[in-house]
Amino acid sequence: MSSTVLRSALFCLLLSAACQPAAAQVNIPADSIRAKMQWFADAKLGIFIHWGIYAVKGIDESWSFHNKKISHKDYMQQLDGFTASQYDPATWAALIKESGARYAVMTTKHHDGVALWPTKQSHYSVPRNTPAKRDVLTPFYKALDKAGIKRGAYFSLIDWSHPDYPGFLKDSSRYQVADDPQRWSRFQSFMMAQIDELNQAYHPALWWFDGDWEHSATEWNAAGVRSSILAQTPGAIINSRLQGYGDYETPEQNFPVTRPKYNWWELCMTTNNNWGYQPQDMAWKSPYEVITIFADVISNGGNLLLDIGPKADGTIPQQQVHILQELGQWNKKHAAAIFGTLGGLPQGHFYGPSTLSKDSTRLFLFVPGKTSGDLVIKGLKNKIRSISVVGSGHPLPHRVVGKISWSPVPGLVYFSVPPAVQDKYMTVLVVDLEGPLQLYNGHGGLQ
Ligand code: GLC
Repeated sequence: MSSTVLRSALFCLLLSAACQPAAAQVNIPADSIRAKMQWFADAKLGIFIHWGIYAVKGIDESWSFHNKKISHKDYMQQLDGFTASQYDPATWAALIKESGARYAVMTTKHHDGVALWPTKQSHYSVPRNTPAKRDVLTPFYKALDKAGIKRGAYFSLIDWSHPDYPGFLKDSSRYQVADDPQRWSRFQSFMMAQIDELNQAYHPALWWFDGDWEHSATEWNAAGVRSSILAQTPGAIINSRLQGYGDYETPEQNFPVTRPKYNWWELCMTTNNNWGYQPQDMAWKSPYEVITIFADVISNGGNLLLDIGPKADGTIPQQQVHILQELGQWNKKHAAAIFGTLGGLPQGHFYGPSTLSKDSTRLFLFVPGKTSGDLVIKGLKNKIRSISVVGSGHPLPHRVVGKISWSPVPGLVYFSVPPAVQDKYMTVLVVDLEGPLQLYNGHGGLQ
């Protein structure tokens, strides 16, 4: 830890009230890491795309054969049905843009081993083994570039179809690493070669590894994977699924109730209950649910990586289009409260999600659904310049209640949001503060 970092940590400790929002961060990272992570911290929303041969039968991506719901042979027959006949990468990029997302993460290869790009390694790929007969990854990344959206590459370390990969079905492996280190090192060379291909061809801004749980950091040569990526693309961000060699955490499907103690994290979440296209799965999250979850995520300092699963012909299910469009409209209206903000108030100060402008002089409050009656902010030491509705600028009068002249404990701030100015999903308010946020978090009384 450098002395500057140490000094600022001590300063924060001394002034813990003023430093509340950052206090949940346990490690103080080096400035260079902070700089590299800045676009990610500002981005808030990414779109995850699970597109692969599993969309042909509409079954679990890779897991369906691993868990023996279907034989490997039958699973692989889906190669013959992957046409991408309606695939229009510009439409995908436009939808992602419309959602408000700043980055998109595409499954370049799932655990089934089928590459979307024309890999030079002798293994399955969409251009080589499917009727699509073409590279479907390059045009997508180009369309993202045009739309100003960062490229993310999901890459599964696990490759259950590769003859040199130890794991195969849930109860049968090909071999153990310890019994045949040469075979394992053949797999390692193959895996590294594919990673190099992706890196050289696309320089992904973000790498989203998956499946690290099957081997140790040493077995994967996780340090080597990381350094080879960074040697070619120094600014690349790597997710946590690289046995300790990543930059940010990836809780999956589960919503944090307390603020995660990570500097950077991203909740990856499906729009129904599956990652890939599965027509029988009608458990669609509503736009309201997605928006309130998203607000909760950014309030707790994280990003949301929201998944879509296109069909084998390359069309995106209508329900997912709808969710992304509704989310996009809401994002557009409330952009100031979302993008480039910091996580908001610690629990207890406001009954709902919140975010802060980077200089902490503006506090954004998220109010779900229709609301009636007064809302309240507790423990706010700052004077309030104004409260207004984000999007319309409609001013909201407030009252400070219970401020006792001789006590350092701040009063309660009451205000209400008239029905006419409420958003159909989540109304967002901006509280303009005099100076950077200062909170009181004592037990009341004379403290
Ligand atoms: C899991 C699954 C995988 C999915 C991924 C997305 O690790 O193995 O099927 O792609 O989560 O987060």
